[in-house]
Amino acid sequence: MNADRLSALFKQINSISDDSMGAGINRLAYSAHDKKAREVFKQECENAGLLVRQDAVGNIFARRSGACDGLPAVLFGSHLDTVINGGEFDGTLGVLAGLEVIRSLNDEGIITRRPLELVVFACEESSRFNVSTLGSKVLTKKLNKDKFVKLRDYKDMSICDIFSEFGLDAFRACDASEDFSVPHCFFELHIEQGPVLEKEGLDVGVVSAISAPFRFCLEITGAGAHSGTTAMKYRQDALCAGAEMVLLIEHVAKDMADCGVVATVGDCRVHPGVMNVVPGCVKLLVDLRGISLKSRQEAYERIINLCVQVASERGVKCVSKELSSDDPVSLDDGMIDLICKNAKSLGLSHKVMPSGAGHDSMHMADICKTGMIFVPSRSGISHNPAEYTDLSYICAGTRLLRSVVLEAANE
Ligand code: GLV
Ligand code: MN
Ligand code: MN
Repeated sequence: MNADRLSALFKQINSISDDSMGAGINRLAYSAHDKKAREVFKQECENAGLLVRQDAVGNIFARRSGACDGLPAVLFGSHLDTVINGGEFDGTLGVLAGLEVIRSLNDEGIITRRPLELVVFACEESSRFNVSTLGSKVLTKKLNKDKFVKLRDYKDMSICDIFSEFGLDAFRACDASEDFSVPHCFFELHIEQGPVLEKEGLDVGVVSAISAPFRFCLEITGAGAHSGTTAMKYRQDALCAGAEMVLLIEHVAKDMADCGVVATVGDCRVHPGVMNVVPGCVKLLVDLRGISLKSRQEAYERIINLCVQVASERGVKCVSKELSSDDPVSLDDGMIDLICKNAKSLGLSHKVMPSGAGHDSMHMADICKTGMIFVPSRSGISHNPAEYTDLSYICAGTRLLRSVVLEAANE
C-alpha cells in the first residue's frame, strides 16, 4: 500500500467540510458538503477502474470484478458523513482505506476470485435525524417506507424535502434493499473511539460485539409562567425537573457501569427558551447503550421510574417517546479468528474487544459474516475535532484490511 497516497486522499476528502458550523469536520448526512465529498469519492473510485452505483437511499457501491464474477462479493467500507464538529477519521477511515486496498491491488495487478465491493453507507450518524445507520438499516429491511418518510431532521426539516434537495426520492429510498445482493462477508475498518488500544499499547483491535443504542426523548410539560410574578412555590418549571432527570440518568448509568451501560443526554430543548418565562416544556434526547439487551432494558426501566417520581414531586408531566432501538450484536467467530490470524502474520499486536460505538456492521451482521478492525484513537477522543489516529496505525489497519479482504475474496 501507499501511505502518501492514502494520506493525500484524507486531505482531499476532509477539505470538504461546512466551516460555517464551526471547528472540525462538518459533513452532516445528505447535506451539500456530504454530497460534494461523495461526488469526489465516486470520481476517485471511477479513476481506479471501479464500477460505481448509488442506491435509492444514497449508499454508494464501487465494484471491482473478480475472476468468478458471479460469486457473492466481499464487501468492505464505512461512512463519510460526520457529526457536527466531528473528526477526520470516524467513518472516513474505513472508506478511504478501502479505496487504498483497491488501488494497491490494481498496482500489483492482483485479480481476486470473488468480486470486491467498497461501500459508503449513507447517514451513519444519528446527528441529523436522531436515527443512526439509515443506509444499512434500509438495506437490511429494518426501516420501512412508512417510518422513513416521516423522519424529520434536528431542524424539523422533512426527509422528503431533504432528499429532493439531495437528488433522491424519499418515497423510493426503501427500494434500495431490492437492488442489493447479500455479500459473501463484510469488513469495516474503524477508529476505536475509545482509549483501550492506546492505553495497552496495541496496534489493532478485533471487535467481538457491538453495544447498541436505545434512543428516546423525554418530553416534560410543566407550566410556562411569568418569571417575575410567579412565586417559587407556584411554579411547575419543566427545566428544573429536566435538570434533576439528567442527573438521575447519569446516576443510573454510573451505577450500572459494570454491566457496560452508558447513558448520555446530548440535547435539551427548552420552550419557549427565553429568559423571562418559566420553562413550560422541555425535551431531553437520551442515548442509552449497552452490550447486553437485558441490562440496557433494566437501566431504561430504572430511569423511567425515577423520572416519573421527579415529575410527580414537581407537578409536571413526563412522557417518554422511543426514537430508535438497535440490538447489540456479537460478531462472527470465524471472522474474529480470520482477523486475529492475519494480524498475527503481519506482526500486529492485537486484542479481541467490544465496541462501545454503533456501526453499520451491527446491521450487516444480521445478513452476512461481519468483521470489524479497530485502530487506536489518541486519548480515546472521537466525535470531536481533536480526533486523531497516527498514520502508522492507519497504515497497519489498512494492511490488515487488505490481507483479510484478499483471504476472504479467494475463498
Ligand atoms: C456512532 O457514531 C455512534 O454514535 O455510535
Ligand atoms: Mn460516529
Ligand atoms: Mn463511525
